[in-house]
Amino acid sequence: MIVAVDGPAGSGKGTIAKRIKKDLGFMNLDTGAVYRCLALEILRKKIPLENEREIIKIADEINIEIDSLGEKDVILLNEEDVSKEIRNKEVTSIVSPASSIPAVREIMVEVQRKMAKGKDVIIEGRDIGTVVFPNADIKIYLDASEEIRAKRRYEENIQNNIITTYEEVLENVKLRDYNDIHRKVGALKKADDAILIDSTNLTIDEVVNKIKKIIKDYKN
Ligand code: DC
Repeated sequence: MIVAVDGPAGSGKGTIAKRIKKDLGFMNLDTGAVYRCLALEILRKKIPLENEREIIKIADEINIEIDSLGEKDVILLNEEDVSKEIRNKEVTSIVSPASSIPAVREIMVEVQRKMAKGKDVIIEGRDIGTVVFPNADIKIYLDASEEIRAKRRYEENIQNNIITTYEEVLENVKLRDYNDIHRKVGALKKADDAILIDSTNLTIDEVVNKIKKIIKDYKN
């Protein structure tokens, strides 16, 4: 069973997916982490974003694995645990433009399909219900106001010892939204048959319960 959850940065996809994983025993696939691995490798190899040929080559060559069996996902880039590093500011600032290259997305979409194959999975990203799994059993589009999303990411950063100001996070959220919405391939978009949940004024429990009910209704 495939549950696709799309939405912008900070809409709560990751938190909600982890809860569904814990409560219902689904595998959780964070596709943002896949693009973040690519962005990290681009930074490590010091490839300018304009050098699309080299970036496509990297996308083709890197090996990304996500071990989501434990409570926290372990993200492996060429067998190295980069779970923390992929959340840093530098990666966050280049991940959206790097993931806008159409040939990169083609490669990454295949990687994601392979990762999810044959599993009960809740898979979160931007283009899951539209491109990666257009036939997903359930599609959710999670949204929230820019300000609340920036506030959530800011608080998450503090917990992870990433030093940022709220204003800096809000600016990055706006910029990434713009980039993610306006790219030519795999743009952030609600699939026509996705259920919209606006989490601006909802608690995590309220969103989780809504999604659990949708899954339960689907199974019956
Ligand atoms: O969910 P996140 O903030 O970790 O995602 C990081 C970036 O990865 C996001 O700004 C755009 C890109 N991304 C994407 O293009 N397609 C996806 N399915 C998931 C993420």
